[in-house]
Amino acid sequence: MYPLNCRYKVYRRSLSSRAPGTYSWNRYEGANDMANELVAIDELKFDPNNARVHSPKNLQVIEESLQRNGFGRSVLLAKDGTILAGNATIEAAGQAGFDKVLVIETDGTEIIAVKRTDIDPEDPQAVGLAISDNAAATYADWHVTKLKELVDAGHDVQPYFLHDQLKALLSKANQVTEAEDRPTDLADEAITKEGDVWSLGDHYVMCGDSTDHDDVHRLMDVAGIQTAKLLVTSPPYGVGKDYADNSREDSLHNWRVMMRAWIAEWSIIADMAAINIADIRVGPDGREVHTYGELVQMCNDADWPYLSTRVWLKQPAWFVGPYYTSSYRAVDDYEFIGLFGTAPYVARLDDTYHWRYRGTWEMTSVAKNDDHPAKFPTELPERCIVMLTDPGDVVLDPFVGSGTTLIAAESMGRQCVAMELSPRYVDLTVRRWETMTSDTAVVVDSES
Ligand SMILES: C[S@@+](CC[C@H](N)C(=O)[O-])C[C@H]1O[C@@H](n2cnc3c(N)ncnc32)[C@H](O)[C@@H]1O
Repeated sequence: MYPLNCRYKVYRRSLSSRAPGTYSWNRYEGANDMANELVAIDELKFDPNNARVHSPKNLQVIEESLQRNGFGRSVLLAKDGTILAGNATIEAAGQAGFDKVLVIETDGTEIIAVKRTDIDPEDPQAVGLAISDNAAATYADWHVTKLKELVDAGHDVQPYFLHDQLKALLSKANQVTEAEDRPTDLADEAITKEGDVWSLGDHYVMCGDSTDHDDVHRLMDVAGIQTAKLLVTSPPYGVGKDYADNSREDSLHNWRVMMRAWIAEWSIIADMAAINIADIRVGPDGREVHTYGELVQMCNDADWPYLSTRVWLKQPAWFVGPYYTSSYRAVDDYEFIGLFGTAPYVARLDDTYHWRYRGTWEMTSVAKNDDHPAKFPTELPERCIVMLTDPGDVVLDPFVGSGTTLIAAESMGRQCVAMELSPRYVDLTVRRWETMTSDTAVVVDSES
């Protein structure tokens, strides 16, 4: 391990004396007349408001680098010793056996640099420090509820984020809170009646059939829209109760009819579609049916030419699923998201680049599907919405289920217009939105 080296000098870079490619370093006499001291590491206090989550890998990389390369960065403290930046560094340093901290006091008017006197830029330790410092950061993430607490307390953190990035993080925090508050006490008998259209703030949800021309057009009329920028959905895969009573052949046939029917209705309205589907059908002869391939064909035949694919990597669940005996099948740990449409694909320069252009999207599945059997994570519609729409745009979901797309649209300032066949799931959508917004939804149109 590296011994702590506490010899230090204070320098200021003289900008005026800078020659091309060189800097002149002068002793700065007036600098830092505040006290500098060596304190025990456990005198520092971890920040209770730290809005970062440090994964085991994050801590391991820092500790590994400390062991190999010694200390190479500064840590920021408040005047009472609370660690404002570098909580993980101090934690890992404690693990690595460091027990003292050289504290340099400043009032923030000068830059403090750590100068390693024992290494040249091309030394392995120099490379190790530079790489590990950046690599470690990629294994930390935002603690969204802490971040939200800071925002709710009136702290203006927006300048440090891109607008959509902060919105997405705060919306995640809302989901966490919402998941904790999720209503489990839905009435035995649904409040929603078939044909009801609910208004939820700017959004609309109808209890109806997405394959039915009249239902779809009544919903659009009530919502007052003729076109939408994007449709995000996961259609029924046809393995649920709707089709379970049928033979495989009928079931597959019904699924194809249902799919073509809704695509015909909705592709006229939405410019683009992001459709989430799994390849989980087995045909009448026992052979697999490539449902995603069929979806691409169906959309190409309608007004939605194929654009691109994302593979959603979920938690592996083959050991609990019904397919574990067919060991050659890679089933439950991925699904497709097909992107279709005619609207121009505008690349936006923001910091969603780490997933936006990737073919695989790693997103945590909904852990508890207790109120709806097939929810996708809110992050799925959120990513599609960020990637393909602008604030204020209309987003459709013809199979909204528990309301996930509507919740994503609400948190991202888009308007959602949605359909769901089951009155209970419409109730669930209404309750989720009411819990999230503390607002009240109303039925604005019904068949009776
Ligand atoms: C895969 S789930 C969607 C789940 C949704 N993405 C979520 O996160 O809750 C499909 C939904 O479509 C609904 N559905 C099935 N057939 C329908 C139809 N013809 N019209 C409208 N909704 C339908 C089902 O009741 C189910 O809630």
